[in-house]
Amino acid sequence: MPEALVRREARGRAGLITLNRPKQLNALNDAVMDQLGAALLALEEDAGIGAIVIAGGTKAFAAGADIDVMADWSFMDVYQTNFITRNWETIRQIRKPVIAAVSGYAMGGGCELALACDIVIAAGSARFALPEIKLAMLPGAGGTQRLPRAIGKAKAMDMCLSARMLDAAEADRYGLVSRVVPDAELLDHALTLASQIAAFSLPALMAIKESINRAWESPLSEGILFERRALYERFASDDAHEGMHAFLEKRTPTFHHR
Ligand code: CAA
Repeated sequence: MPEALVRREARGRAGLITLNRPKQLNALNDAVMDQLGAALLALEEDAGIGAIVIAGGTKAFAAGADIDVMADWSFMDVYQTNFITRNWETIRQIRKPVIAAVSGYAMGGGCELALACDIVIAAGSARFALPEIKLAMLPGAGGTQRLPRAIGKAKAMDMCLSARMLDAAEADRYGLVSRVVPDAELLDHALTLASQIAAFSLPALMAIKESINRAWESPLSEGILFERRALYERFASDDAHEGMHAFLEKRTPTFHHR
């Protein structure tokens, strides 16, 4: 049986997805994206999982969409098969927190995959670029939209128009990643963070994720309104009452993810 291109496992309440196409630096072909989507959806449905880590290999998180398969496609090929939308967008359906653990190259679609995650942890070796311009292509898996929102227009233009590659320290300074850790600690760090997050109340985590994503997608007044409704909904949550009472009683809360 061929080895899976994407591995999925549970580590307590943390789910771990590992891209596993090392010879092609985890180039993201359809099979990889289908398997990644299926793994994400399986962890989303698993009530025992509270947060998800996506990791690549040591040399590459992922080197982008698979150029080998795209090279001879026509417009009709991509239009009729709904390229990107049909499987890359699955990550947007995931309501649980998703952490990208990036070491090595996160190029093109690999960088876009990291950008689609909620938290990006970079190893010192991480390198981020959207080099599609070198192929006379365009970052088309959210790159031209998420990158400027993440790091601002000027730096996004620079990266996309010149194919400039950022090292981990620059990516950290620009706000593309949230933490930089030594390579040897990357996976442990990401899984520890996922476990810490997963111990919190899942509906509260999902409400926070949804509200922050609203900040990206709507004017401030709409975002504030959305946030206020999400806050009111917290008062319908057993966990929220438990959390507040536990604080007042100086004890550790017990969350039932309700
Ligand atoms: N697609 C297909 N194969 C790829 C690939 C990709 N995106 N990236 C790397 N590979 C393959 C190489 O062809 C090579 O295969 P062979 O051993 O069969 O020759 C193997 O992976 C190892 O790669 P290199 O020999 O190139 O490794 P390197 O260490 O010399 O360079 C690299 C590493 C700088 C990441 C280089 O591989 C590279 O520039 N890759 C392409 C990056 C890129 O352009 N990504 C954007 C893709 S387009 C996109 O993503 C569009 C979108 O928005 C959806």
